[in-house]
Parts: sequence; structure tokens; C-alpha cells
Amino acid sequence: MRAPLSLLPLSLDKVVFEVGSRRIIDAISVSLEAGPRTVVLGPNGAGKSVLLRLCHGLLAPTSGVVAWNSAEIAGSSRRQAMVFQRPVLLRRSALGNITYALKLAGVPFAQRKERAMEALRKVGLEEIGAHSARVLSGGEQQRLALARVWALRPEILFLDEPTASLDPGATQEIEKVIAALHAAGTKIVMVTHNLGQAHRLGDEILFLHQGRLLERTPADRFFKNPASPEAAQFLEGELPW
Ligand SMILES: Nc1ncnc2c1ncn2[C@@H]1O[C@H](COP(=O)(O)OP(=O)(O)OP(=O)(O)O)[C@@H](O)[C@H]1O
Ligand SMILES: [Mg+2]
Repeated sequence: MRAPLSLLPLSLDKVVFEVGSRRIIDAISVSLEAGPRTVVLGPNGAGKSVLLRLCHGLLAPTSGVVAWNSAEIAGSSRRQAMVFQRPVLLRRSALGNITYALKLAGVPFAQRKERAMEALRKVGLEEIGAHSARVLSGGEQQRLALARVWALRPEILFLDEPTASLDPGATQEIEKVIAALHAAGTKIVMVTHNLGQAHRLGDEILFLHQGRLLERTPADRFFKNPASPEAAQFLEGELPW
């Protein structure tokens, strides 16, 4: 029997992204493997969000190559997902946001409602399934965005500052769901400015500075003894966040 197709690893080869003459991503080569949770750190404007968008296929590189292990299954919402700082939700009920995503992913009608309810329970939102997604609080909206991801169990999830505007309680809830997704086999690639969160959720750190990938280091080592002087300065708060 043929082994199931896998999206990972995701390989970036000399990826450059320019706007006009400005180089925003400067020749990044890196391979993201299944397994370890990857946290992307770096000061404001380093290119973290652009890098995630290039990985997820929302932007195309100016030069270089972004390649999934299995090109034939890339781009499927069943396989790869992204969560933003401000969740992108539809003008539907909380439950409807999830069943619609399941529909787009090709899940048969008969299974959608049950799977969506299970996902709402996973994030503690089962009581508000019928509420319009637009009236939920910021923390609830973000949990809903993650419930939608949970319902699909993608192979890889990109998160761009998912808890940036949330209080500590909501942040903890979101971290729990991210941990559960990882435990269920989803590769996590997350940008955060919360160093405590990077410690808690990161197995390896990619450190970006002025569009360049300055280091890729196991998280324990990065926080104790970063390899680059820029990362050391960043950790000491001397580089802007
Ligand atoms: N589409 C675009 N057109 C022009 N410039 C852009 C575009 N997207 C990003 N930039 C610029 O590229 C640089 C990197 O942006 P990016 O959003 O990736 O930074 P970041 O590391 O995510 O920063 P932050 O921590 O503030 O979120 C910034 O200077 C930004 O202004
Ligand atoms: Mg950003």
C-alpha cells in the first residue's frame, strides 16, 4: 500500500520577497519538518508576517522557491490553515462558520454538524453555537477561529500573533487549543511577541531580523544562549518588538 501523501516538510529555497526596490525577505532557506513546534521571533518589521504568508501561499516570492513535499495536495484547506491576530469570520453563526469550512473542505453534509459541535466543545463555545460570530468577544472569536481549524485537523497551522489582543485567561485558553492541535499531529508554526508564550509553546525558534533568518535554534538554547548578537539584544529588550 502507498504511504499517505504528506505536505511536510515545507522547504524554502533562497526565498526573496521585494516590494519595489525594498527587500522584505532576504534569501531565506529553511525546511520546516513535521513534529517540532516552530516559533518565529523578531522585532517589528522583521518580515515575520510576510514569511508566514509566503509559506501559506498568500504571497508569491519574488524569487526562490516555496515547495511542499507533495505539491499535488498543497493549497487544500483540509491540509493547511492560518490564524491571524484578528480572526477572519463570516457573517454567520459560530456553528455556521465551522460547517461552512467543512463544506469547502469537501466533508459530506451528514457529518458537518456533528463535527462542528465537537469542535465548539473543544474550545468551550458549545453554548454559543447559534450566536452570530460577529457579536462574539475578541477572545471568543479567536477560539472560534481555532475551533474551525480543529474541525479540519490540518497537517500544518500557521498562527500570526493569535493572542496579541487577548487577556491572560483568553490567552491560556488559546494556548490549550494550540497544544491540543499539536498533540493531535498538527505542525505548529507561530509568530508571537510574547516571550513567555514562545517558551511555553516553542520547540525551536526561528529568529528573523531585517528580512534575514539569523538563526534556527532549539528553544531552550535560544533563550539561554542565542547564537546571534541581534537575538541577544532582542531578548534584552534592546531591539524594538
Ligand atoms: N504588501 C506590502 N507592501 C509593501 N510593504 C510591505 C508589504 N507587506 C509588508 N511590508 C513591509 O515589510 C516589512 C515586514 O513586514 P511584516 O508585516 O512581515 O513585519 P513583522 O515582522 O510581521 O512585524 P510586526 O512584529 O510588527 O508584526 C515591513 O516594513 C512592512 O511595512
Ligand atoms: Mg507581523
